[in-house]
Amino acid sequence: MNASKELLTSAAMAEFVARGFLRFDALVPPAINQAIMRGIDRGEISGHPAGTPLSQCYHGSPIRLLLELPRIQGIISSLVGDDPLFDHDAIHVREPNEGKAQGLHADSIIDTRAHFDIQLMYFPHDVPLEMGGTLLLPGSHFRRVNEMDVAAYQNMRGQIPMVCEAGTVLALHHGIWHCGRQNKTDRRRYMFKLRLNPAVRQLRLWNTADLNEQYRAHREIHAGLGRDGSVQDILSRLEPWFEAASGRLEIVNRVKLWRFLTGDESFDVNYWLSRLENMPA
Ligand SMILES: [Fe+2]
Repeated sequence: MNASKELLTSAAMAEFVARGFLRFDALVPPAINQAIMRGIDRGEISGHPAGTPLSQCYHGSPIRLLLELPRIQGIISSLVGDDPLFDHDAIHVREPNEGKAQGLHADSIIDTRAHFDIQLMYFPHDVPLEMGGTLLLPGSHFRRVNEMDVAAYQNMRGQIPMVCEAGTVLALHHGIWHCGRQNKTDRRRYMFKLRLNPAVRQLRLWNTADLNEQYRAHREIHAGLGRDGSVQDILSRLEPWFEAASGRLEIVNRVKLWRFLTGDESFDVNYWLSRLENMPA
């Protein structure tokens, strides 16, 4: 990874912890999108054995152009370290007027690690609504399900159908629920997916310069429940499908992951996890 990579901020990491994904619209410039589309059409994009360091992958492939963008390097380094392992890739194709959609699923079997893989989803061309981009359910990454076990669920509140410009990239937690929507146009739809495994402990890998400032601002300005853009604020934002009272189970799950990522075992949001840990001897 080169020195110019643009690491994520603490606020962006909190967003990833809370929602299970980050979205970067039109991040990849048109020349690289076109090079990758040509590579796909010519069948030139191929993967590597699982477990290969990413630094050894895609040399001579247009995918390398994507991976060397400073923002892509920063996203990868912040979430899974400088040289994660290639797990698998796939060029997902939705045929024109395909007539069916994929069932909602997670790309994993039940996986209770705090450590997580990421999946980069890259959309090399514009995806209008009728083309049926990937559909995501924000905040679903802590509901550890087995692959298609949730396929019967449809139209969950808060779901996001990806409608995006060419060059848009998603970075997903491996547990997030998603599916490929139906393509109702007369054009093929492509999406390139790349799964990466961390090769280092996922501990403060992002740009943590703002971390203490985040906490201090939260304590001084709100000392509780405010909407101040702080880590605590971001981790307490609810998704529409959460249980009605407070979404507290998901907030607890988020606090656990934030503690894992920061090493700060005293971190909490509104005492939700601390209460569960109170076990006087
Ligand atoms: Fe999938």
